[in-house]
Amino acid sequence: MSNKAKLKINDSEIELNLIEGSEQEIGIDISSLRLKSNVITLDPGYKNTGSCKSSITFLDGEKGILRYRGYSIEELASKADFLEVAYLLIFGELPNKQQLEKLSNDIKERSIIDEDLRIILNSFPKSAHPMGILSSLTSGLVAFDPSAVNIDDEEDMYDAILNLLAKIPVLVAWVYRRRKGLPLEYGDTSLAYVENLAKMMFQRPNKEYVQNDTIVSALNKLLILHADHEQNCSTSTVRIVGSSYAGLFASVAAGISALWGRLHGGANQAVIEMLEEIQKDGGDTKKFMSKAKDKSDPFRLMGFGHRVYKNFDPRAKIIKVEADKVLNELGINDPILDIAKGLEKEALIDNYFIERKLYPNVDFYSGIIYKALEIPSEMFTVMFALGRLPGWVAHWREMRINKEPIGRPRQIYTGEKLRKFSEINNR
Ligand code: ACO
Repeated sequence: MSNKAKLKINDSEIELNLIEGSEQEIGIDISSLRLKSNVITLDPGYKNTGSCKSSITFLDGEKGILRYRGYSIEELASKADFLEVAYLLIFGELPNKQQLEKLSNDIKERSIIDEDLRIILNSFPKSAHPMGILSSLTSGLVAFDPSAVNIDDEEDMYDAILNLLAKIPVLVAWVYRRRKGLPLEYGDTSLAYVENLAKMMFQRPNKEYVQNDTIVSALNKLLILHADHEQNCSTSTVRIVGSSYAGLFASVAAGISALWGRLHGGANQAVIEMLEEIQKDGGDTKKFMSKAKDKSDPFRLMGFGHRVYKNFDPRAKIIKVEADKVLNELGINDPILDIAKGLEKEALIDNYFIERKLYPNVDFYSGIIYKALEIPSEMFTVMFALGRLPGWVAHWREMRINKEPIGRPRQIYTGEKLRKFSEINNR
């Protein structure tokens, strides 16, 4: 195969290089296009645009493949724990025992948060959305660690990364506990990362905490499945904010905001809200299936469809099994979950959904698990953010190490041509 592409614009022909990835994905390198032709490309939503070369995550939406650093998501979810996966994503290899122990200890050392941040948290109204609080507190961390802004060497980078991995779970637990009206906790450094998270969240002040292994295992899998997903909306945001050298904490805070939206991470909250709406309306799933298919109705079936998985979402397969396990083992009997099962069954045999390849995505089932764990629906996306943290960090680090240029797309201007200013009395 030739490694050149030819583009004909009117009478002139331009030769562009082809770039081949390690999984034989082909891209046309258009970085010289404007210089050669004074023409740019237009691709709203970036459906056909590669923004960078990356060696972190590979996914094939048609075949339903997801791999972190070459390891299949199926193997990682069944054999690794979240901290190992975080190390793998960020530093490129699975850690050996000593490396994992060092990572775990370095995290524990940094898990203390300045008490003044607690004051900032307490000054948010109780009704504030947890994603807004998490994003603000993540930005707020910079004020307590100004050295994290200008990061120039590996050591500073390691320190900033470890600070985030250590502090974000505490902030997540704090946001959750404040919403529930519970006293804030610092956790237990004798526990592993996810066990500690579960304790920080679910411990009650008036009874001894007993770990539930089913819950810890489900959290571990959920966090692993969400840990990275290549150039999605929030990760692209982290990379683009970081490309201006805004610092890791600010970049991740921006990523949290991007994840908040209901077409991205907010979908898991939207799933439960949709199920509750269906229940309030009498529980007629067929009626809502028709609404989802009606082009004059803005209603969409939340938790169905995906920008890149046009076959099935491999994460959904894994988490569906976990959701069944959690529901069975915790003996949950919730009419909302029956509605979810009904919708899933109907959508899988409905032509509209089959033709458009709309399958339940990971957020359909993650919302169900979080609901079973009695986590409030506004907190679901916060849990997703904690899972995505290693991915954001890995991409930010890769972007900085590769010295990528500042992200700054162009546009095709469609507004007015030059006009004369008209004085206010003449308008
Ligand atoms: N319910 C009903 N119809 C849908 C749905 C849905 N959930 N999703 C897509 N469609 C239809 C569209 O109306 C369109 O139909 P048409 O071809 O007749 O016009 C067709 O399927 C293709 O849809 P697009 O919006 O073009 O697909 P796109 O890839 O741009 O969007 C998205 C993907 C945003 C995820 C979409 O499927 C959606 O809105 N899903 C619901 C929200 C959701 O679950 N988001 C979570 C994503 S997963 C994550 O962030 C981890």
